Amino acid sequence: MSSRIIPVQPFDYVVFGATGDLTKRKLIPALYHRFLDGQFDETSRIIGVSRTKLSDAEFQELARDAVTEFVEEEYHHKGTVDRFVKIFSYIVNDVSNPAGWGDIKKALRDDPKIIRAFYLAVAPDLFEPIAEQLSKTKVYRRDSRVVIEKPLGHDLASSMEINDGVAKIFKEDQVYRIDHYLGKETVQNLLALRFANTMFEPIWNSAHIDHVQLTVAESVGAGTRGYYDESGALRDMIQNHMLQLLCLVAMEPPASDDADALRDEKLKVLRSLKPITNGDVAKNTVRGQYKGVSSETTSVASYQDELPADKKGSRTETFVALKVEIENWRWAGVPFYFRTGKRMASRVSEICIQFKPIPHSIFDHAEGAPKANKLIIRLQPGEGVKMMMMIKDPGPGGMRLREVPLNLSFADTFTERTPEAYERLLLDVIRGSQTLFMRRDELEAAWKWVDPIREAWERASEPPQSYVAGTWGPSGSYALIERDGRTWYEGED
Ligand code: BG6
Repeated sequence: MSSRIIPVQPFDYVVFGATGDLTKRKLIPALYHRFLDGQFDETSRIIGVSRTKLSDAEFQELARDAVTEFVEEEYHHKGTVDRFVKIFSYIVNDVSNPAGWGDIKKALRDDPKIIRAFYLAVAPDLFEPIAEQLSKTKVYRRDSRVVIEKPLGHDLASSMEINDGVAKIFKEDQVYRIDHYLGKETVQNLLALRFANTMFEPIWNSAHIDHVQLTVAESVGAGTRGYYDESGALRDMIQNHMLQLLCLVAMEPPASDDADALRDEKLKVLRSLKPITNGDVAKNTVRGQYKGVSSETTSVASYQDELPADKKGSRTETFVALKVEIENWRWAGVPFYFRTGKRMASRVSEICIQFKPIPHSIFDHAEGAPKANKLIIRLQPGEGVKMMMMIKDPGPGGMRLREVPLNLSFADTFTERTPEAYERLLLDVIRGSQTLFMRRDELEAAWKWVDPIREAWERASEPPQSYVAGTWGPSGSYALIERDGRTWYEGED
């Protein structure tokens, strides 16, 4: 089946922070793909706003460069790129400069059928001043949308402050908090897998599932990214992306795909998380920081070596493993093991649902007991779903059992390219669909659960455990799961 393109209403998308990295790497390439597919056309406009002095023509050139650099070459269609960049215009503006705000007002069209969206690709301390100016200059309408993204605070208190600031002007139904993991095709597929098939739901609980593993491993380092040292893996990956994944795996079936029906269920999961506090922090959490390797064939700097001089000695974690428990009827007694880190052995994000062993085996165990089923949901790369099953090894030699995957590979099944997360999310804003965006209460519930872990780490005298770059993390991460008689899933044997 081919994909279905449903054009969106014409829009004026105002992007604050238009010359930044996010705009070039993610927003422009994503919009280009949607334009190329005909989801919108020249009746829409993208208005860049930033302090940097640029003309419209220079901003259009920046857009063209972003397409050249960040869109795969096979999609560079000269005529389409020429048409695409023409919808870009630019306004020089400093939040405190009234002149620029007048220009923004002039650039926007008055037609109520044209959707107005403001993407704040700027530091969160500018969200409130920008929202205030949008209101003061009457640029914002009741049906306008505002898009914001992380870091949405560094703890519960600061995130509430940011949300309060935005809420002074925008109503919650106008606020689109991006967690780009929710825009990933495979993450949305969790919903399809669970709620468009009958076979999983009856066994999706503690009676049949032994435990769940969530791994988001990256091979890149982090020390050269200024922001990262302030954040660390707990805030950068767990508080948002991984807790959102957990919610989609663990939530009750919502009554519909309505944004609030779904978000209500996710919120219940976040509120059922067993707090990890005080003594439990040492038992159920592991944090690590990578050290370098150097051999004849490779040389990778340590996190410390990548840091600028004034940050040396930092105890920021580049790896986290957690044992997470959900205190509700469905999941009591089923641990969810998380691990995420930079400079790990490979880039892989996957969810492993480990089922319980069969209750009784009729087979000869000379070659070991049948392995319990596993469902592996591979989010990236090599997106797909695998059910690990026991089958009879073909041929003579008795009843020998072997574990093999029932394998659904997206690349083999679908011919269409898989859209990037931002393609979906940017146009969901125009459609007015908040389903894949975080609601304020979700965000705050996530911070509330994460804060005590971080606070305990800050009080602890020991530094993060070190792990060698290019491995699966510190030994403590293995101890965390092996103590429970389980092991990390690291691919088929
Ligand atoms: C971002 C984090 O939110 O997600 C980065 O700030 C991380 O540190 C990135 O690398 C991972 O996203 P993806 O889509 O590459 O898995």
